[in-house]
Amino acid sequence: VDISGSGASSRVTARLPSGESVEILLHGATVISWKSDGGEKENLWLSEKAVLDGSKAVRGGVPIVFPVFGPPPANHATSSLPQHGFARTSRWEFLGKSTSEDTVESSAVKLDFGLYSSNLSAEARKAWPYDFGLVYSVTLSKDSLQTVMNVRNEGTEVFEFQMLFHTYLRVKDITTTTLTGLLGVPYTDKVLNNTTSTQSTPSLSITSEIDRVYTSIPQSTATVLENGTPRFDIVRDNVEDTVVWNPWKEKAAAMADFAPQDGWKNMICVEVGTVGGWQRLEGGDGFEGGQVVKSLL
Ligand code: BG6
Repeated sequence: VDISGSGASSRVTARLPSGESVEILLHGATVISWKSDGGEKENLWLSEKAVLDGSKAVRGGVPIVFPVFGPPPANHATSSLPQHGFARTSRWEFLGKSTSEDTVESSAVKLDFGLYSSNLSAEARKAWPYDFGLVYSVTLSKDSLQTVMNVRNEGTEVFEFQMLFHTYLRVKDITTTTLTGLLGVPYTDKVLNNTTSTQSTPSLSITSEIDRVYTSIPQSTATVLENGTPRFDIVRDNVEDTVVWNPWKEKAAAMADFAPQDGWKNMICVEVGTVGGWQRLEGGDGFEGGQVVKSLL
């Protein structure tokens, strides 16, 4: 494990003996690279204009959404927070690593990051004045990346939160990319003014801008396919919702930190989390939820 850079650009890099690697910025504890296949294949999409100096959320990789998803609702304890909350723009602490190296095939490295109410900017602390502790664990294995979030209420007052891993997966061509594992699942369509609907086909093709929040999904695995060939399995653990997002041409062009211009063709966000309602935590209680993303090719 390497710790490099200084100040806002500090990052932690881990590599398995077989070459696979993961790179995480302390800014937002944002995973900005995950390479499998002996280090040959980058699985995440990262904008060439992503701002990595801590002044803005990273456009790409795996930003963390907490404690609110999207624009915060009015009349809620999160109302004064920015879109997607403060976790993705706060500086996290690197808590350390643990490794298991039974064989080269099964070796894994786990990196832990922490964010506590005491680390928040004065502004964020004022907007969401609860005592909390987050421990985020990123585990790199030969063919998978696991992300797990542990949320603790360290205070005495109840709080409500949403949490999501905003994963930008790299794909060859969005127009031949499909997603399965959502059949029969209700969703809110943000592109169609938050109309609600139900996924009626086993395979979802992406042919235009998409921004859907699928909730209470019974099946634990979703699969991203390229030209009909499975590319990624995304397995949820104790979180029931998934957002599917691709900005398409016009919305991508409107983002100052989105590059190259046609980069939207090479990404699909499959964002696992708990965002359909609110998780409620009493003082002293904890919550843990996560995902395993498997690179299948
Ligand atoms: C997705 C939302 O999770 O994130 C979209 O569903 C949003 O509505 C997208 O546009 C990107 O958000 P941001 O704040 O990173 O530009």
